[in-house]
Amino acid sequence: MRGIMALIAAALSPRDPRRTADARPLLAPHSASSCKSSSRHYRRLKCLSRCLCYPLLGLLVMLGIIQFISIACGILISFFPDEIDRATDRWRYGDQGPTMDILHWPTDISRDIVPVGCHSHNDYWRPIPLFSALQAGCVGVEADVWLVDNDLYVGHRRSALTPQRTLQSMYINPLLRILEQQNPITDFHPLDDQPPQGVFDTDPSQTLILLIDFKTDGQETWDYVYAQLAPFRERGYLSYFNGTDLIPGPITVVGTGNTPFNLVMANSTHRDIFFDAPLDKLADDDDSLLNNNQGGNAVTSRTTENVGQGLSGISDGEIGQDTFDWTNSYYASVSFKKSIGMPWSFRLTEREVDKIRAQIRGAHRRGLKVRYWGVPSWPRSLRNHLWSMFVREGVDYLNVDDLQSATRQDWQPRVSDWWN
Ligand SMILES: *[C@@H]1O[C@H](CO)[C@@H](O)[C@H](O)[C@H]1NC(C)=O
Ligand SMILES: *[C@@H]1O[C@H](CO)[C@@H](O)[C@H](O)[C@H]1NC(C)=O
Repeated sequence: MRGIMALIAAALSPRDPRRTADARPLLAPHSASSCKSSSRHYRRLKCLSRCLCYPLLGLLVMLGIIQFISIACGILISFFPDEIDRATDRWRYGDQGPTMDILHWPTDISRDIVPVGCHSHNDYWRPIPLFSALQAGCVGVEADVWLVDNDLYVGHRRSALTPQRTLQSMYINPLLRILEQQNPITDFHPLDDQPPQGVFDTDPSQTLILLIDFKTDGQETWDYVYAQLAPFRERGYLSYFNGTDLIPGPITVVGTGNTPFNLVMANSTHRDIFFDAPLDKLADDDDSLLNNNQGGNAVTSRTTENVGQGLSGISDGEIGQDTFDWTNSYYASVSFKKSIGMPWSFRLTEREVDKIRAQIRGAHRRGLKVRYWGVPSWPRSLRNHLWSMFVREGVDYLNVDDLQSATRQDWQPRVSDWWN
């Protein structure tokens, strides 16, 4: 026990002269004797630290003063906000002043949104279905619909369906609300416009494409889709073919998936669900169609097979040069990976580019809008390369999952050319 105490005492007692020097304050008056008593190494260290310390201290003081001045100025300025700040605050936080009334107008729901040729693929996956796409300016939205127990539900697979997510609740009712807001009856505007204004306030003539992907049997699902569109039809909100002309409306409904072509064609004087034609069958260099030249209205077959986009309700043998055009179809589309292939080398071969050009020519000649789906979305640089190429070659709609990058358009400086 006594041994331990002695050890501690020894450790604490200042026997070493260096330790004595250490205990002196750094800035204490420097006596010659102390300098002499320390080792040369220690003296050099101490002088060096003094050389560094004074400028550092000065710098910190300077920074402190600058900081203080800037805070003081900020406080001072905050007592005198400028007129614009005060005005925007009043608008934003809404006191009952007269400015509140000039902030809103009847059709301001889509203010500031500039529509672009993008199609929101599987739109119900977006954070807010429909609205996220509209916010980004997309002029096309896609909903996969399932007929279950006499109602239409929206989801990618049957396992994803819920009672709340219906075609009506997610698309039809919100669109009705938007269009009613866009077509108000006021003292200034007592009558309905003909045609009605569309959803985009910056371009009211722009139609919104509602692409309905029939997931269940086409013949059965058709009647339900047709019936649920009635509120749009009654208010004149649907684009339609009247037997001779296409009458544009705020909403253009296109059926894809198992949508049966024979039912699209069934009414020759009033069509408001358009077909998503098979783009690969329209290529201008496709000789296989030349032998097969039936008139567009001559489709009599009652093929009821559900074989997916562009081919349901019509057999291959019936597809002729004139089968698909603007009187019955809106889009012409095909899976990019299936029709063109996966460009592993990051470049399209000349043959592939020629094929794309032939498809685009064939579709445009018939008055159809070109859209490729199943475009590789990764790697991003490949996707951007393909998007740029599509735009350059005249593809009308980009099928997109990534709304942000599609509509920001920084992947292609010439992108402003493709819209229209
Ligand atoms: C279709 O609409 C156009 C334009 O409004 C009109 O000139 C034409 O007569 C209509 N066709 C029929 C068959 O009603
Ligand atoms: C075509 O549709 C219009 C409008 O819904 C309807 O009045 C007409 O009876 C239909 N014609 C046929 C042949 O189904």
